[in-house]
Amino acid sequence: MKIGVFDSGVGGLTVLKAIRERFPSVDLLYLGDTARVPYGDKSSQTVIRYSLECAEFLYNEGVDLIVVACNTASSYALEALREHFSLPIFGVVEPGVKRALKSTVKGRVGVIGTKATISSGSYERMFREYGVEVFQKACPLFVPLVEEGIVEGEIAKRVVEHYLKELKSSGIDTLILGCTHYPLLKPIIEEYMGKGIDVVDSAECVAKELEPIVEEVGSSSLELYFTDRSPSLDFLVDFILGKPVEYKLLSLPCKV
Ligand code: DGL
Repeated sequence: MKIGVFDSGVGGLTVLKAIRERFPSVDLLYLGDTARVPYGDKSSQTVIRYSLECAEFLYNEGVDLIVVACNTASSYALEALREHFSLPIFGVVEPGVKRALKSTVKGRVGVIGTKATISSGSYERMFREYGVEVFQKACPLFVPLVEEGIVEGEIAKRVVEHYLKELKSSGIDTLILGCTHYPLLKPIIEEYMGKGIDVVDSAECVAKELEPIVEEVGSSSLELYFTDRSPSLDFLVDFILGKPVEYKLLSLPCKV
């Protein structure tokens, strides 16, 4: 079985890593659209178009299922992707919501994400059905911080404080990292939010969601593709996956 995973950049590697940890014996194919990152400040039409192009590449490579390892793409493009491709397609929003519903005692959940994810209302709509109160905050500087490799130290701490100050005092007991780049900032976010706030990483949640469908086959290839070699790419691949991994470059929409 071959699982295809895509994201606007390197953030989805956090999902890829969680999938690899849960299923050591499947083939994995990853596409990070580093030439067009961030998706989080694009219009919904553009996010849908980019997502279709990413999925088409994975589909043509013969994957058996696709994981949309990007909250922005999951918020806007899931329906279009499911219409276009006759494969199981998993997003990251619903698994995070399910996990947060198990965790919250007070029924007060925080969601942080890109501007596009937050303004899509994708999390809010799902939580409303369960009578959970949602406190949202777009954190637009988090993605460039991560893409620059600034995931610890004073600058990262100051930016985290800047965006999360209000959420910290809003009475939430659960905070969803509603962007696949954010797990890289999780230690700082947890430290800032303090004990008593469960920080939910949707990367782990989506890997769990695949359990009923994934069949481990004994082979465990890992192929990475990116659409641009950004300056921090090598560092980030190494940092997120815990070792350097070779990758190839391609242009979308045409495969090279
Ligand atoms: N990783 C993407 C997400 O989960 C966000 C990055 C971007 O803005 O492209 O939303």
